[in-house]
Amino acid sequence: MMQSVLSTMVKAAAVLAVAGMLQPVSAESANPAKKWTIGMSQCNLGEPWRVQMNADVKKAAEAHPELHVIFKDAQNDTLKQRAHVEEFVAANVDLIIISPKEAQPLTPPVVAAMHAGIPVIVLDRRVVGDKYTCFIGADNKKIGQAAGRWIVQKLGGKGTIVELKGLMTSTPGQDRNSGFREGIKGSDLKVIFDVDMKWLEPNARKEMESALSRFSDISLVYAHNDPGAHGAWLAAKAAGREKNILFVGIDALPQEGQAYVKQGILTASFEYPTGGREAIENGLKILNGEKIEKEIVLPSRVFTAETVDKGGEWLK
Ligand code: FRU
Repeated sequence: MMQSVLSTMVKAAAVLAVAGMLQPVSAESANPAKKWTIGMSQCNLGEPWRVQMNADVKKAAEAHPELHVIFKDAQNDTLKQRAHVEEFVAANVDLIIISPKEAQPLTPPVVAAMHAGIPVIVLDRRVVGDKYTCFIGADNKKIGQAAGRWIVQKLGGKGTIVELKGLMTSTPGQDRNSGFREGIKGSDLKVIFDVDMKWLEPNARKEMESALSRFSDISLVYAHNDPGAHGAWLAAKAAGREKNILFVGIDALPQEGQAYVKQGILTASFEYPTGGREAIENGLKILNGEKIEKEIVLPSRVFTAETVDKGGEWLK
């Protein structure tokens, strides 16, 4: 009995050893040129914008054979994202890039990484305080202000607005809201309904259904991102009211917001660059010991029916 168990074990070990030998060796582990490992912590991959950010990071990194990027997707779960950053620290990666879901709860793991001597690039959404190596992103306050001023002009200074806010525990949501309110100050625009749709199209659609049932007169929907604006448009279309309401969003990906503008779904989309390429370029500089700016602000454009085929118009 014992003998047969043993022989089975020996056979199993032999099979495993052969399987191990046949296992393809990954390009990375076989490549001594991969000098640096970067941990990329993405808060979710639910929206096209974040898929694009990861693609931009990947493409930029592929141009540098000395880089190896490990991607982790927190699936919109703050605790999962905290754990991912902690795993990167435990694995002693050379650099962390994080696009955090929320500011407050993701600050401690970023600070801990910095204490462990690992440089951190914070991308798009901010953490609290200044314990990071570099922040890269567009100026959301400025985008909100520009959207506000643009809408005042478009509506001739008066009208009723539905504001569909991005997650208000994240800094882009906060800044796109406060910037917008500054932008419409002094006009006769009234925000008659505002709600946190947490960046998510299905939430935006549901909230817009409530707004439509409560208000018979809505001039325009200002949504903090294009999925939100599109969700609102779907709700208005289902109610047969999409032609009487204007829709403005933010992100302006070619395949999303810009396409909606071309189709006449959105009247305007404000660009929010992903910063993926810039994160890799600056990450490399950090790894090579070069000095970089602590705050890197990316420019933004507005796309409308008139400008979408000409590459939009830069915000001043
Ligand atoms: C994607 C997204 C974008 C938005 C950005 C803000 O998750 O909601 O649509 O511009 O995050 O951080």
